[in-house]
Amino acid sequence: MDSQKPSKKRIAVIPGDGIGQEVIPQALNVIRASGADVEISEFDWGADRYLRDGVTVPPDGFAMLGRDFDAILAGAFGDPRVKTNIHAKEILLGMRFKMDLYANVRPVRLLDAALCPLKGVEPKDVDFVVIRENTEGVYTDAGGVFKQGTPDEIAIQEDINTRKGVERIIRYAFEYCERHTKLDGSPRSRVLMCDKSNAMTHAGGLWQRVFKEVSGEYPQIATQHMYVDALCMQMVRDPRGFDVIVANNMFGDIITDLAAGLQGGLGMAASGNIHPGKTSMFEPVHGSAPPIAGKNVANPFGAILTAAMMLAHLGLAREAEKIDAAVLEAVRQKKTTQDVGGSLGTREAGEWVAKQVGRATVSS
Ligand code: NAD
Ligand code: IPM
Ligand code: MN
Repeated sequence: MDSQKPSKKRIAVIPGDGIGQEVIPQALNVIRASGADVEISEFDWGADRYLRDGVTVPPDGFAMLGRDFDAILAGAFGDPRVKTNIHAKEILLGMRFKMDLYANVRPVRLLDAALCPLKGVEPKDVDFVVIRENTEGVYTDAGGVFKQGTPDEIAIQEDINTRKGVERIIRYAFEYCERHTKLDGSPRSRVLMCDKSNAMTHAGGLWQRVFKEVSGEYPQIATQHMYVDALCMQMVRDPRGFDVIVANNMFGDIITDLAAGLQGGLGMAASGNIHPGKTSMFEPVHGSAPPIAGKNVANPFGAILTAAMMLAHLGLAREAEKIDAAVLEAVRQKKTTQDVGGSLGTREAGEWVAKQVGRATVSS
C-alpha cells in the first residue's frame, strides 16, 4: 500500500455499542504506544446517538469518511433497546455497502494451543484466512413480506449475486493468496471456495463458473472446493490444510464465527472490510455482547489485532508487527481476560499489551 508515504494517517474511530465502547479505547492506547503516526477522530454513531436524536449516519457521513480519512476503526453495533437493529444496519452494513468495501478479510490464527477447544491442535495447524464477499448475497435484504399476519403470509429473501461481485471477490482471494505468507513465513498456496451449489444451483453455478475461470489466471495456486456444510465439519475435525477460503456473504459470516472458536473465541478474531485503494474499515469480528457490556470483562485482543491489521494496511508494518508480537506474548504469559484463560479485566489486558508495545517502541 502506501508504505513509502511518511504522511500522518487519518483514522476515523466509531466505537459503537456495548463492548465496542470498552475494547476500542484499548486498541487506541495500543496504537498510540506503537508510535504510529496517526491522527484520530472519534464519532459517536451508535445506539445512544440514535435513541437521542434519531440519527444513525449523519447526512454525507459515508462521503465524509471516504474523503477525510485513510481508514476507519469500528467497534460493534447492536443494542437491545433498538429492537429493529436499524442503526446497526445503517451504520455497519451502510459502510460495507455504500463505501463498496467488498472484501471482508478475516484471518484465523491460533496464537497458543491452550486457546483452541480442539485436542492436539497447535498454532501451526490453524493459520488460514476467510475472504468473505461483503456487498451482496442475502445481505442486500432484497425481497419483501406479503400478506403479513395472515395464514397466507409470504416472506421472500433474495440472494443477489452479480457477475462483477462474484468475480472481484474470487480474484481478491487469489491475489491475497499470491501476496501473503503464513505466520511461519511459508507462502500461501491454495484457494478453497465454499458454497452450496448442490442446492442453490443458480447462484452456486455462477460462483462455480467464475471460480474456474479466474483460477485459470493463477496456475501456480492450487484450488479446492467444498460445500459449506462439509467445510464446517472439517473445520472442527481437522483445521490443518486450510489456507485461503473464499465464500459468499452469509456463508462467510457463519464460518468466521466457527473459525473464531478455533482461535479462542470471538474475543480473539480480527477483520478488515476492504476495497483496495479506497478508505477501508476495520472491526473485530465480535458483536456488542450486551450481557457482558460495561463489566470490564470483554476481551480487547480482537480489537487490538484489528488495529494492527489496519496499520499494516496503511503501510505501518513495523507498528503492526509490534502489536501482533505483544498480543502473542500476552497470550503466552496469560495476561488475558477470562474468556481465554487469564484473570485480567478489559482495561488491564489492554494496558499490559500497550506497555509491552511501548517497550518495543522505545527500544527500536
Ligand atoms: P456477540 O459477538 O456480541 O456475542 C456472542 C458471544 O461471544 C457472547 O457470549 C459474548 O459474550 C461473547 N463475546 C463476544 N465478544 C467478546 C469479547 N470481546 N470478549 C469476550 N466474550 C465475547 O454476538 P451476539 O450475541 O450474536 O450479538 C450481540 C449484538 O451484537 C447483536 O445486536 C448483533 O446484531 C450485534 N453484532 C454486531 C456485530 C458488529 O458490529 N460487527 C457483529 C456481531 C454481532
Ligand atoms: C459480522 C456480524 C454482522 C454480519 C451483523 C451484525 C449484521 O455478524 O460482522 O459478522 O452478519 O455481517
Ligand atoms: Mn458475524
